[in-house]
Amino acid sequence: MTVHFIGAGPGAPDLLTLRGRDLIAACPVCLYAGSLVPEAVLAHCPPGAKIVNTAPMTLDEIMAEISDAHAKGQDVARLHSGDLSVWSAMGEQVRRLRELGIPVSVTPGVPSFAAAAAVLESELTLPGVAQSVILTRTPGRASAMPDGESLTAFAATGATLAIHLSIHNLAKVVADLTPHYGSDCPVAIVWRASWPEQRIVRATLATIEEAAADGPERTALILVGRVLAPSGFAESRLYAEGYDRRYRPGNSLT
Ligand SMILES: C[S@@+](CC[C@H](N)C(=O)[O-])C[C@H]1O[C@@H](n2cnc3c(N)ncnc32)[C@H](O)[C@@H]1O
Repeated sequence: MTVHFIGAGPGAPDLLTLRGRDLIAACPVCLYAGSLVPEAVLAHCPPGAKIVNTAPMTLDEIMAEISDAHAKGQDVARLHSGDLSVWSAMGEQVRRLRELGIPVSVTPGVPSFAAAAAVLESELTLPGVAQSVILTRTPGRASAMPDGESLTAFAATGATLAIHLSIHNLAKVVADLTPHYGSDCPVAIVWRASWPEQRIVRATLATIEEAAADGPERTALILVGRVLAPSGFAESRLYAEGYDRRYRPGNSLT
């Protein structure tokens, strides 16, 4: 018996990996984080599967469900939104399961920052503009930020920022970033990327609050950086004529 943690992607049911789909189809028990995992993904569960929305449950209750499946020798598909490597609560579950001696597997999913970049048709790293993307958030009711991980500390790098779980803090985001990025720096907010109700607002640090004033207070990514208005950046060396590289040797102009 194994608990298969599966990244369910940003929302669109076809943004699920084939491995994730096949594992869901093979598991007689499915636990899913109902606040963001779309119901359509559950259509891959086999007939008669036990399907449990864990959104209203405690960690102890979730572990009790898994222990029950374990006792019956039933594999469990454990679905979280996006990818499991960020803000999924997988870590605490895996720790408990290891203590119980229950095997786990992990299947990645499409993270929401990648889905948001896709709907913007943007590359978040551009030559000479930004070569790093910082995935971060602002403090929440249940989550303080560790020392050193403030938005202003990240802003000092000038990297592209993908700010999660923070749409309700937009005014503070703008206040913290403007001194570093400049008020004309492009910002895009994508609500529910890849869902039918997806919404996009593009503006600058100076204008984003007004532009986004009537947007929902949940499930949005705030992307900040000059890469979002990409005029005047250099082409990469990757496809440059005369650039000698492993897959196209001997082109060097020297
Ligand atoms: C608990 S975190 C989950 C992150 C997820 N594990 C991931 O890989 O993106 C939830 C936050 O992710 C972002 N998010 C998740 N799905 C999204 C989507 N479809 N569109 C925009 N933002 C999304 C929002 O910032 C939301 O508040």
